[in-house]
Amino acid sequence: MKALILSGGEGTRLRPITHTAAKQLIPIANKPILFYGIEAIREAGITDVGIVVGDTYEEIKKAVGEGKKWGSKITYIKQEAPLGLAHAVKISQDFLANESFVMYLGDNIIKQGIKSLVDEFRKKRANSQILLAHVENPGQFGVAELERGKVVRLVEKPKEPKTDLALVGVYMFDYHILEAVNNIKPSWRGELEITDAIQYLIDKNFLVHSHIINGWWKDTGKPEDLLEANRIMLDDLEARIRGEIDKSSKLSGKVRIEEGAQIINSVIRGPATVARGCRIIHSYIGPFTSIYYNVLIEDSEIEHSIVMEECKISGLKARIEDSLIGKNVVIIKSTSKPKAYRFMLGDSSQVGTI
Ligand code: TTP
Repeated sequence: MKALILSGGEGTRLRPITHTAAKQLIPIANKPILFYGIEAIREAGITDVGIVVGDTYEEIKKAVGEGKKWGSKITYIKQEAPLGLAHAVKISQDFLANESFVMYLGDNIIKQGIKSLVDEFRKKRANSQILLAHVENPGQFGVAELERGKVVRLVEKPKEPKTDLALVGVYMFDYHILEAVNNIKPSWRGELEITDAIQYLIDKNFLVHSHIINGWWKDTGKPEDLLEANRIMLDDLEARIRGEIDKSSKLSGKVRIEEGAQIINSVIRGPATVARGCRIIHSYIGPFTSIYYNVLIEDSEIEHSIVMEECKISGLKARIEDSLIGKNVVIIKSTSKPKAYRFMLGDSSQVGTI
């Protein structure tokens, strides 16, 4: 069995971060989202992995490489434009070579992993297995309609959803899906939809099995989803102190401080994680905060946030909360006159002031 991870796309809902970076590489509890998927796939015993990539190919290749770190073999498949999930399958036919495969959306995290689901698919010998979850906002997902436990209809982002069963971003297929993706037409939004491809299988009487999952999963399309994923994954992290903590600092709860990080005269309340090379000076890091590598935080307070690499945060009067801060961002108290906010913000940035 093979795996196909979809890591192209535009990530419009995560601008401005995705103007310059792949959303699949945003760190959750200081680990890129995509790595959770690769690990889940490896844990399910699959090592032959194709990654569909778009404009952020170089960045993803640099982070993942050939997959040796996981004992996997990675093949990159370039998608010219994000023309849909089924289009991603269509362009991967050579890689898939008629084998069964798991399709995994590179921005999804499934806490329980996928091993038991892949095992179930292997045992049931269905042509496809889809995962469903009860959600509060089905209109934002592909939605399934069931009759006596059998999937009869799939609709992409319906205006009036008939059920609250959303398609989770992991699918299992045998080679018949190739026939489906080659026969469907683009939807009104110009994409080849995976829901249409699966509907094709249903209509042709292929066996499409569904499994409703109860565990936690997240499609991290929006900033609040990333913060929630960060919160959930931090809760699971084991405490580990590898960096230097001076005598006047206080750590409580589950805290992870990586090698080369320095905590000076600061309070850190877990669950929280501080990556290598960070310096936290005279500051407060509150629960559910992840600070990625080489960040400086000085005379400031922050909680329930994700700070990406190489940022500098200094001298802030109010606490930072519920924030997603991209790479190399500088937020400092300015001493120059007149007293004013001075910004240099990319397109689609959001700032909330007091
Ligand atoms: P989406 O979140 O549906 O799309 P997107 O990444 O373009 O984001 P937005 O809606 O905010 O603009 O994509 C789910 C995953 O599949 C994500 O990892 C990107 C990937 N993908 C592809 O690889 N190719 C595609 O053609 C599409 C549509 C998505």
